[in-house]
Amino acid sequence: MSTHRSWAEPWKVKMVEHLRMTTRAQRESAIREAGYNTFLLPSRLVYIDLLTDSGTSAMSDRQWAGLMLGDEAYAGSENYYHLEDAVREHYGFREVIPTHQGRGAEHLLSRVAIHPGQCVPGNMYFTTTKAHQELAGGRFVDVIIDEAHDADSSHPFKGDIDLEKLQTLIDRVGAAGIAYVCVGATVNMAGGQPISLGNLRAVRALCARHGIRIFLDATRAVENAYFIKTREPGHADRTLAQILRAMCECADGCTMSAKKDSLVNIGGFLALNDAALAEEARNLMVLYEGLQTYGGLAGRDMEALAIGIAESVDFDHMHARIGQVEYLGRKLLEAGVPITRPIGGHGVFLDAARFLPRLPRDQFPAQALAAALYVDSGVRSMERGGVSAGRDQKTGENLFPRLELVRLTIPRRVYTQAHMDVTAESVIALHRNRDRIRGLKFTHEPRHLRFFQARFDPVEGDCVLVD
Ligand code: F0G
Repeated sequence: MSTHRSWAEPWKVKMVEHLRMTTRAQRESAIREAGYNTFLLPSRLVYIDLLTDSGTSAMSDRQWAGLMLGDEAYAGSENYYHLEDAVREHYGFREVIPTHQGRGAEHLLSRVAIHPGQCVPGNMYFTTTKAHQELAGGRFVDVIIDEAHDADSSHPFKGDIDLEKLQTLIDRVGAAGIAYVCVGATVNMAGGQPISLGNLRAVRALCARHGIRIFLDATRAVENAYFIKTREPGHADRTLAQILRAMCECADGCTMSAKKDSLVNIGGFLALNDAALAEEARNLMVLYEGLQTYGGLAGRDMEALAIGIAESVDFDHMHARIGQVEYLGRKLLEAGVPITRPIGGHGVFLDAARFLPRLPRDQFPAQALAAALYVDSGVRSMERGGVSAGRDQKTGENLFPRLELVRLTIPRRVYTQAHMDVTAESVIALHRNRDRIRGLKFTHEPRHLRFFQARFDPVEGDCVLVD
């Protein structure tokens, strides 16, 4: 008898959403009209949408039922108290400030916790997080371990902070020169890579010695907890809920984009322990988000979020979620496609620099590969490389981070293994025909977060994928 046992999702499908199939000619014209930017494609022309795992999850029947229990009172909505309870129970922070999504929380935190000129060290950057830190006058400093910048390193916790880098920064600017340490769990831009609990605790100890606060970007912290349970010695017998609490105990608060781990289509929160800091954040909140008991969310959204938080820490759910990402990643690895290793939590990241070694970085290989993938099969992915990194604030030069990636991000509870097969076959076919992919040049470059709205043309001809 075979000892191998497959996992399967701990749910079944109750309702389906039809997808539109397109022809290659339709996709060629759509991507041209979108300026070769997958963000600018209308979703009705996308077959399998792996642009992001953000707000794209399928809610459960319980969450949908929760929508009917929305208490749309302007003040003191019942659903706010459910949300507050869920955050206190699972994340452990006392003060709960709902926001319309993650960047709303980042805005509030950056404004109340950063003095202009201070540094904000972090384990790699995330686009909106760094942008808000900079708008508040802060300066992001990368203190992640070097392995995180090497797509081929198989370090199990590439999200770890390099304690020496952090100590060197503290020695150089002093504790007063540091607003707080911003810890991402998992690290999106490194490929959905986790931070270990051991490292997080060591960062906490180091910061405590210097009186420096730590704020967690808890957007995918439950996925991170899964990796701690399955990879870090000593945690196999603990529940995801216990590990999540242990992670949060290392921090003074967190920002949260609930559109990921928490299985809702919109929502976020800022959670803090310091009541005085929370008071400052609430003062801004009423200006930028909404009243303190809804923060830009409808009552029903807060109810779905409270339920989603509890569902997110279920091991079988997370095992199937990360198992599906691994399934796609393994197929690509077996076919020799260069991807970031280890396979991450929320997606598979194609290493576009190695996929298209002949394209120079200033022809944006990852942007070109994402456009070509769409033309080939209608699969929508996202660039995470030079275009996302933007320009140096001082010199105005393009930043070319070492990682030049295309992200195939898997929404939670949405696609089947067959969708993963179709995706893998398209990527593998493109890899075999990689010499047919053309580089891109800017035709329009926005000032902030340029990747969202930038437009391009192929450097030669009028096709990103030559037939
Ligand atoms: N932090 C991380 C690690 C994120 O991945 C995101 C969003 C945010 C903060 C901001 O949250 O979108 O709710 O305002 N990431 C999305 C993505 C956009 O596609 O990776 P938001």
